[in-house]
Amino acid sequence: MKIEMNNKRILITGAAGFIGAGLAKRILSETPSAFVVGIDNVNDYYDTGLKESRLAGLEQYERFTFVRGDIADQGLVEDVFRKYNPQIVVNLAAQAGVRYSILNPQSYIQSNLIGFFNILESCRHSYDGGNEGVAHLVYASSSSVYGSNQKVPYSTQDRVDHPISLYAATKKADELMAHAYASLYKIPSTGLRFFTVYGPEGRPDMAYFGFTDKMVRGETIQIYNYGDMKRDFTYIDDILTGVVKVLQKSPDPEQGVPYRLYNIGNNRPESLLDFVGILERCLLREGIIAEPAKKEFLPMQPGDVYQTYADVEPLIADFDFKPSTGLEEGLTKFSKWYKSYMEQKNLRDRGC
Ligand SMILES: NC(=O)c1ccc[n+]([C@@H]2O[C@H](COP(=O)([O-])OP(=O)(O)OC[C@H]3O[C@@H](n4cnc5c(N)ncnc54)[C@H](O)[C@@H]3O)[C@@H](O)[C@H]2O)c1
Repeated sequence: MKIEMNNKRILITGAAGFIGAGLAKRILSETPSAFVVGIDNVNDYYDTGLKESRLAGLEQYERFTFVRGDIADQGLVEDVFRKYNPQIVVNLAAQAGVRYSILNPQSYIQSNLIGFFNILESCRHSYDGGNEGVAHLVYASSSSVYGSNQKVPYSTQDRVDHPISLYAATKKADELMAHAYASLYKIPSTGLRFFTVYGPEGRPDMAYFGFTDKMVRGETIQIYNYGDMKRDFTYIDDILTGVVKVLQKSPDPEQGVPYRLYNIGNNRPESLLDFVGILERCLLREGIIAEPAKKEFLPMQPGDVYQTYADVEPLIADFDFKPSTGLEEGLTKFSKWYKSYMEQKNLRDRGC
């Protein structure tokens, strides 16, 4: 069903995050009559200064309201739904990262399971008393759910019963819980499996950002599985365009369980070594590094997968869209942003 964004109240969880802040900004700038409420606990999984600077960019919009809090706190989520009565909900708050689930598994249970459960419960009760309630719940899943599946490209029709990280298991569980709630309470919901998202204002915990930091410091970068890995790297603006398109078309409860699931990926896996080569070139061109990176080649890490590759045919069929930004363009934009961000960060760190 078509959903008009004008005058809508849109709740975005994880609004201080990479994708959440980008989405809030995209909606606020493109739909001048939409209201956005963001929730985020601004946790210190990575540099909170970056999260705060993303929030500062959003606070210039009068139609943006920020709630600093945890979606694992049921009372807080209920209060937010009661107060703001959102018509569209985008759940992006999560403990992300594959490797961190080995160090701090509890945070995945709290944010990805209990947090998402609270969102589902509040969506369910949004219809109480005959209220209009939530017209569309869109939530982030991940390409990690495909685990070590051999068949490529990865299709949402493929079985994904063998996660190889706790992160992946929680994301698959989110899809299952969303299906149960869509079936029981007719909450129109769409899950999006994102494939390695990169770009300006990106996450410092992700490999490309870590490589950049290390190259700048002249340190050696570690390349796992001896560089023999492929990723479907997806540029942030493509993800945001895709999410905004998806938001505006919900599954129809009159036509079965109102539940849909899509991959959003670039549909063009690139080898990790090519990726590093392009990143190196962009950083050299922007004057961020003076010489090529020192590289150390290591075996595969536990929880990592060899390849990710998105089948995006359903996305094209239903939304006439697929990501298209190439690595050269995306990494050039990342490098330019990184340069200015580090200049500001250095000034901040020196107390200027
Ligand atoms: N970036 C990617 O490559 C990628 C790939 C696949 C899936 N995803 C998913 O997309 C979503 C957004 O990812 P991102 O890259 O923007 O990550 P991010 O870490 O930048 O953003 C997540 C935000 O959620 C907040 N958060 C975490 N737990 C919370 C809680 N319990 N309550 C309130 N806020 C909480 C964090 O502070 C953070 O600001 C996540 O669900 C992630 O799992 C991302």
